[in-house]
Amino acid sequence: MHSHLLPGIDDGSPDLESTLQYLRNLQELGFQKVITTPHVMTDLYPNTPAKILQVLKVVQEKIVEVGLQIKLEAAAEYMIDENFDKLIENDTVLPIAAKYLLVELSYVAPVLNYESAIFKVQARGFVPILAHPERYYYFSMAELEHLHQLGCLFQINILSLTGYYGKHVSTVGHNLLQKNMVSFLGTDLHHKKHLEALKRFAADSKLNRQLSNYEWLNPSL
Ligand SMILES: [Fe+2]
Repeated sequence: MHSHLLPGIDDGSPDLESTLQYLRNLQELGFQKVITTPHVMTDLYPNTPAKILQVLKVVQEKIVEVGLQIKLEAAAEYMIDENFDKLIENDTVLPIAAKYLLVELSYVAPVLNYESAIFKVQARGFVPILAHPERYYYFSMAELEHLHQLGCLFQINILSLTGYYGKHVSTVGHNLLQKNMVSFLGTDLHHKKHLEALKRFAADSKLNRQLSNYEWLNPSL
C-alpha cells in the first residue's frame, strides 16, 4: 500500500518495462495485490488523480497482456507542503480504499502547519496515514506519540526494520512496533536496489516471523 511503481511520473519506476519487472518480482515474493502510491509534490511531481489513473490503466492493460496475476491499484503519497491544503479543499486527492490518505513530511523539517493539515484531512472524512514515521529524524518518540493520538495511523517501511536506512531508523521502527503504534506495512519500493533488499528480507525468517505476529491492517484494503 506504499510504492512507486507507475512509470515516469515520480522518482520511482522510470518506464513500463521496469514497472512490469518490479511487479513480476513482487508476485514471485508472494504479493497478490499492490496499491501503488506515486508522489504528489507541488514543485517536483504535481500528479493529479486523473493523470495517475490514466497511467494506472496503461499498466493494468499491460499486466493482463503479459499474463501477470498480481492486482494493481493506485492512490498517491501526498507531501504535506504549502499547497497541500488546496488539494484537500478542492477534493483533488486520490485516497486508498476510498478511506485513507497517505501523507508524508519533509525529511529535513516539517512545514509549520502540518498538524492543521492533518485535521483538514480528517475534516474531509479521510483517515490520515503517515508514511514511514520512523524516517523523520527531527521527531522525538513523544512527538510521534502525539501525532498518533491525533488520529494519524502509521505505515512503516519493511526495509526500515532491516537496517536499510541506518541504525536510528531501524531502532525507531522497532520501538513503534513494540508500542503497537503501527497499522500498515509498506515496501516504499522505488527501484531495483529496494527490490534486492526486499528479497533479502524475505529470506530473513526471524524478522518475518516477528512481523507475521503483528496485527496489520493491510489485509483490510
Ligand atoms: Fe514513498
